[in-house]
Amino acid sequence: MINSSLVGEREQERGMEKLGEKRRVCVTGAGGFIASWLVKVLLKKGFILHGTVRDPSDEKNAHLKKLENASENLQLFKADLLDYHAITSAIAGCEGVFHVASPVPAAKVPNPEVEVITPAVTGTLNVLKACREAKVKRVVVVSSGAAITMIPNWPEDKMKDESCWSDKEYCRITESWYSLSKTLAESEALEYAEKHGLDVVTVCPFVVIGPLLQPTVNSSSLFLINILTGVRESVENKRWSFVDVRDVVDALLLVYEKPEASGRYICASHTVKLRDLVDMLKSMYPNYNYSKTFVEGVEGSLVSSEKLKMLGWECRRLEESLIDSVECYRDAGLLSKD
Ligand SMILES: NC(=O)c1ccc[n+]([C@@H]2O[C@H](COP(=O)([O-])OP(=O)(O)OC[C@H]3O[C@@H](n4cnc5c(N)ncnc54)[C@H](OP(=O)(O)O)[C@@H]3O)[C@@H](O)[C@H]2O)c1
Repeated sequence: MINSSLVGEREQERGMEKLGEKRRVCVTGAGGFIASWLVKVLLKKGFILHGTVRDPSDEKNAHLKKLENASENLQLFKADLLDYHAITSAIAGCEGVFHVASPVPAAKVPNPEVEVITPAVTGTLNVLKACREAKVKRVVVVSSGAAITMIPNWPEDKMKDESCWSDKEYCRITESWYSLSKTLAESEALEYAEKHGLDVVTVCPFVVIGPLLQPTVNSSSLFLINILTGVRESVENKRWSFVDVRDVVDALLLVYEKPEASGRYICASHTVKLRDLVDMLKSMYPNYNYSKTFVEGVEGSLVSSEKLKMLGWECRRLEESLIDSVECYRDAGLLSKD
């Protein structure tokens, strides 16, 4: 771990930048899938980074220390989202905060209130309170498409946009605890921002794919790996919206830097039916054991990222994201090479 006063001394020693020229930001949950890419890009751009992780000595965070400029400009802080004082220490002195950390369970959890909802909601409010105390200029909160789409009786072919909010009661009835956690966390974040005059912008990515920097497999990457390995014989042929992790990071930086950015931003590049996605993968990688039965019935959502595009956001082609994902899974030994 690098001491922050040491970082300051090094800056002076180098004499390259005038003191205060480097920008200091905090990324919560720095070791996760999306956050690792964000940390990488921010370090490359010359930011000084405060990254929060639950355990700085855990091997699963070791990749962060090997990123370009990390030895000089990355300081890791041990902080659980529910530990307000630890969060405050990590955010002190930062001009901006990217709040990325939130539980993303891959399977059903025994106690959703404790394991998912409280860390997401109380954790987000802890981060925002610490930001207010530290007079942070802008906070970017990573929400989710899960906070947009869970609306019963929505017409199948009607586009959803940033005015749509998942129905909390519907999330409860359907036991969609992750969706509920993200809906509550985002809506309470925006309410807090309004009430206290804090500049908060939220980004709602859909299913995030792309190469992994971290050594562990996160839930959305597992979703794609499961499709490639046919974990389930039979799957629903509904629409899914995907976005590349590198494009999510571009979106987060864009809403951070553009003064005119405000409110919520849907971040989804491509919407495809699952059967079409499998066909696309099969045309590039014919030998995997894909799911064979596609059950019709549920359509899935149509969403628009127009608001983000108006801000200047561009995204990769789906084929590129799929190839880069598969090649990364193969290199990491998560997928066989044939
Ligand atoms: N991937 C997607 O498809 C997707 C789509 C939409 C939105 N998102 C959002 O993007 C964010 C990052 O997700 P990801 O896909 O990168 O998943 P991830 O790799 O699982 O990252 C989640 C991060 O949150 C941290 N975290 C969880 N509970 C915490 C707690 N109580 N205290 C401190 N840290 C905690 C985890 O730390 P540990 O390593 O210590 O567990 C991990 O670093 C989340 O807010 C998620 O809701 C993801």
